[in-house]
Amino acid sequence: MQHILDYLKAHVSPARYKHTLGTVKVSRALAERYGVSVEKAALAALLHDTGKSMPAADMPRFVSRHRIAVPLRDEVSAHSPALLHSYISAHIARNIFDITDKDILHAITAHTIGAAVMSPLAKILYVADSLSPDRRYPALKRIRALAISNLDAAVSAVMVNKMQYVVLKKKWLHPHAVIAWNTIHRESL
Ligand SMILES: [Fe+2]
Ligand SMILES: [Fe+2]
Repeated sequence: MQHILDYLKAHVSPARYKHTLGTVKVSRALAERYGVSVEKAALAALLHDTGKSMPAADMPRFVSRHRIAVPLRDEVSAHSPALLHSYISAHIARNIFDITDKDILHAITAHTIGAAVMSPLAKILYVADSLSPDRRYPALKRIRALAISNLDAAVSAVMVNKMQYVVLKKKWLHPHAVIAWNTIHRESL
């Protein structure tokens, strides 16, 4: 893991580095709590924001130059290019760090907008990313408590928090975030 830490130190801001280590810590704790591989959870968390090594404005070009498969690429590039960082992080994990584990790559890819089908590892990273110690928002305490008692409820609460933020800021809401929401709640809708 030292080589990934060295890469992060060289490529992301000190704040992002700190956030990454915080996300690793929470991911490890949740993995232990929910019987998921702690090593995989730590690795996914360590790599989840490597894509933030470039400004959001450069992400659309990077994605097309490296032919990274991104659903709704043009819309995402036009409306919310920063969302591309999760696909770029998965690309870096695969191509620079030789990660071939599909579940780790899936978790990294899904950590920002979620996905209709999320593995336990993906849910852990999705929640841990919002619970790293550097985060500050009103629902944080509640979501932290939920994460310990019910992982799906925590995923749902993080989704609410993210969608609320996007809607209140009148930003573009990724359609797959809505699909992920509908899918996770299909039993109760
Ligand atoms: Fe991220
Ligand atoms: Fe993150």
